Amino acid sequence: MTVLVTGAGGQIGRAALRSLGDRGVGLGRADLDVTDADAVMAAVAAHRPALILHAAAWTDVDGAESDREGATRANVDAVRHVARAARAHGARLVTLSTDFVFDGRKREPYVESDPTGPLSLYGETKLRGEEAALEEHPEGTWVVRTAWVYDEAGTNFPRLIMRLAETRDVLRVVTDQVGSPTYAGHLAPLLVELPEQVPPGIRHIAGAGAATRREWAEAVLAAAGRDVAVEGATSDEFPTPARRPAYSALASEHPDTPVLPDWRSGVEACMAGFIP
Ligand SMILES: NC(=O)c1ccc[n+]([C@@H]2O[C@H](COP(=O)([O-])OP(=O)(O)OC[C@H]3O[C@@H](n4cnc5c(N)ncnc54)[C@H](OP(=O)(O)O)[C@@H]3O)[C@@H](O)[C@H]2O)c1
Repeated sequence: MTVLVTGAGGQIGRAALRSLGDRGVGLGRADLDVTDADAVMAAVAAHRPALILHAAAWTDVDGAESDREGATRANVDAVRHVARAARAHGARLVTLSTDFVFDGRKREPYVESDPTGPLSLYGETKLRGEEAALEEHPEGTWVVRTAWVYDEAGTNFPRLIMRLAETRDVLRVVTDQVGSPTYAGHLAPLLVELPEQVPPGIRHIAGAGAATRREWAEAVLAAAGRDVAVEGATSDEFPTPARRPAYSALASEHPDTPVLPDWRSGVEACMAGFIP
């Protein structure tokens, strides 16, 4: 069975292709611009995948605030193109969404049926992307909401912390954002198996448990054997264009949803293969 992976150069795309081996066909941005409807249809026609893992997206949360059109093209229109092509060619679709579809006012993990209320344009476009995929291909779409994704390479929080630790003795990291750090190496293999395991629809899959950003940073430094102090800070000290939910840990209300290892095991697994 061929699995077509869009966004092949991104964190989840790369991790998925590592686990797929010969079954995976990866298309990076240079191979396929997912905002081009005709190109998407042609790529799916050419590769005839049984499953599409749609991992391409606009993931620059702050950048989305100043480019609504660009973020909408990538996170709403492109998902529709991919879902339409999947349905036309009889492929199943697994597409990614985010904890940022929630407003962060809850104080226990968000489950699939919780009301959404994105605070940012990124979150809003991802939510509309979910709706587009489920509308275009309801019988064959699995929307996986995940959170705080990181991998050995790429632009992510653990790599930022490791970079800052090169030059500082003390780091200040916020304690007023709580989420579910998710190691791409743990998540990606589950994504491609999901359609065999559960009915179509929305599923929450993220590193088990919840952490503040400070706890996450401390776990990264400990796993890397770095003796750097981490002090607590508040988000007000680091203003950003996009608002982020104060609390966005994820859990599934469906007992058949696969569960990832605890978020701390993800940090340890990632840091064991960390690429400086
Ligand atoms: N990262 C997180 O914390 C997080 C959390 C929750 C959900 N998610 C979701 O998980 C999915 C994958 O995230 P990720 O962490 O793997 O992101 P990533 O590392 O930023 O990868 C996204 C990939 O999509 C590519 N891309 C962007 N626009 C494209 C276009 N028009 N055509 C083709 N490719 C395009 C990017 O290419 P360029 O590098 O050239 O732009 C990049 O390689 C996304 O749907 C994201 O919303 C991520």
